Amino acid sequence: MRPFNQIERLERAEALDKPAAIVRDTVQRVLSDRRIKDALHGVWLGHPVHPVIVQITLGSFMSASLIDLVGGNRRSSTALIATGLALTPPTVAAGWADWSTSNPDQQRVGLVHAATNVVAVSCYAAALTRRARGRSGRLLSLAGAAISSIGATLGGHLAYHQALGANHADRVRDLGPRDWQTLGRVADLPERSPVRCDAGDVPVFVLRRGLDVTVLADRCPHLAAPLSEGEVVGTDGDTCVVCPWHGSQFRLDDGAVVHGPATAAVPRFETRIRNGEVEARLAPGS
Ligand code: FES
Repeated sequence: MRPFNQIERLERAEALDKPAAIVRDTVQRVLSDRRIKDALHGVWLGHPVHPVIVQITLGSFMSASLIDLVGGNRRSSTALIATGLALTPPTVAAGWADWSTSNPDQQRVGLVHAATNVVAVSCYAAALTRRARGRSGRLLSLAGAAISSIGATLGGHLAYHQALGANHADRVRDLGPRDWQTLGRVADLPERSPVRCDAGDVPVFVLRRGLDVTVLADRCPHLAAPLSEGEVVGTDGDTCVVCPWHGSQFRLDDGAVVHGPATAAVPRFETRIRNGEVEARLAPGS
């Protein structure tokens, strides 16, 4: 049996749903301020924050353990453990923010990923405490590395196998039509109520406001929800569509992210009206 089959089993472990719901409610209560949550998701960065910061945190811990393994300089290893521990709170906060707006199968794996990392970080904290008392803490440092590796494997599974944090609208840039596609008669489109059409092979979100027609990919970059089922709202003077699944908001003018959890923009289409028909094609540079 492939070892990763065990992780796939974890995705289906419904016994984890109850503790996941308790943790999710707590995280959502603590992170109720939308600006903080957007910052933790990485809306400002245009990329999820957690995988960026975790490289430094985990890299510090692993480097410390490697030094301890080969009997290297204790002061260097101690400084690296202290760096990892100092970076743990923002790493954890960004991870929880992403986790709290993920799908149930992702939350099951994410919960075990988090629990594993709690044990690993506790080992490193205990190693540091022992060193402060003049002891080596070497075994605790090595245990931390072993447990961190399991946590990192689960994190990798979440990112690469379950695509949490990936841009789910990215392929539209390859698949979207470069030549004009007819979507239908403008008179048949409801006013200010989004509908789903097809631009070639690509499903698109279409919104008519008077004679102005907005066309975006009908795929939320966060986890691929159909944006045509979302609500159109006014936010900070812009008209936005709210994703029906986790509430990301995208500006209709250019598809930019206004609020997360999404961090990537929705691909935008150019439009024109000819003989009463709406035509669209992927906007250059979208
Ligand atoms: S699918 Fe999660 S915000 Fe759209």
